[in-house]
Amino acid sequence: TTPTRRLSLLTPSGRLTLGNLLGAIGPMAHRQDDAYYGLSDLHAMTTTHDPELLRSRTVEMATLLLAAGLDRATLFRQSQVPAHAQLAYLLECTAYTGELNRMVQFKEKGRGRDSTRVSLYTYPVLMAADILLYRPAVVPVGEDQRQHVELTRDLAVRFNRAYGQVFTVPEITTPSVGARVMDLSDPTRKMSKSADAAGSIFLLDAPDVVRRKVSRAVTDSEAGPSAVRADRESKPGVTNLLEVLAACGGSADGITTYGALKRAVTEAVVATLEPIRKRYADLAADPAHVSQVYADGAARCREVTAPLLAAAEAAIGL
Ligand code: ADP
Ligand code: NA
Repeated sequence: TTPTRRLSLLTPSGRLTLGNLLGAIGPMAHRQDDAYYGLSDLHAMTTTHDPELLRSRTVEMATLLLAAGLDRATLFRQSQVPAHAQLAYLLECTAYTGELNRMVQFKEKGRGRDSTRVSLYTYPVLMAADILLYRPAVVPVGEDQRQHVELTRDLAVRFNRAYGQVFTVPEITTPSVGARVMDLSDPTRKMSKSADAAGSIFLLDAPDVVRRKVSRAVTDSEAGPSAVRADRESKPGVTNLLEVLAACGGSADGITTYGALKRAVTEAVVATLEPIRKRYADLAADPAHVSQVYADGAARCREVTAPLLAAAEAAIGL
């Protein structure tokens, strides 16, 4: 097993947000040794997609991860490591429709439609392959993905029993609750890369765009010097702004009005995004360099995962 190995995939199905930065990319940047960070472009095709948009979002996200400081980890695109799809097929020969039918995310995403892409249905199996290929000892996972990682464990155990000890069965850990950034226009839901632009701050938003979005952020109608305080239940909008401010290194000391709070948030967010935007501009001017980084990363992933794939193939009878 590989006790320290880190593995994380981001789906290029939208544009990276401040939520992704504070909740995922920031922590990833602190754990870059023996780390495999991928863009799951195959996962981005489980619902209706536009090929050109997928391509451009993938390139943008690839460039942004580098710009955001992930320059020591192994960065790769899932589609450039064929072992992911190959192992997924072997695991499909291990999985049953009964268990995929129970996946809550599939039920939710498919709700109201009488038919979906088969890849939406088999998504958790590809995710199992994504994980098992790298043999991480533990997988930190948020509540929304927990069921999928439990399926990953079930498939690994079943395969090992039926065909021989091939897979490391990963332990599931719940990551210490990091920053959870809420949507600015609806602070009861998570800021999301697929949401409409109004409530999400994207990493490449220019300062005036950040200012406009923050100035329109939902607060509440309380007034007076004690209105600026955190209370997740009754003041979700203000709480979110205070948390974003703190996560971006700002301070709410002495702030007594929502206007002043929003100005401080704007300043802190812009200061956090500026260096990323600058590095992004430099990197985007040299796309060949970015592709080379991902090509090198994919080559390393192919090398690291080849023995496991070969063992799985041999065990299953190929
Ligand atoms: P994916 O489809 O790639 O899982 P998400 O954008 O839902 O896309 O999540 C990618 C990562 O970013 C996950 O680790 C998730 O927890 C984190 N993340 C996403 N949105 C937020 C948010 N609003 N606040 C904090 N972390 C977030
Ligand atoms: Na997600």
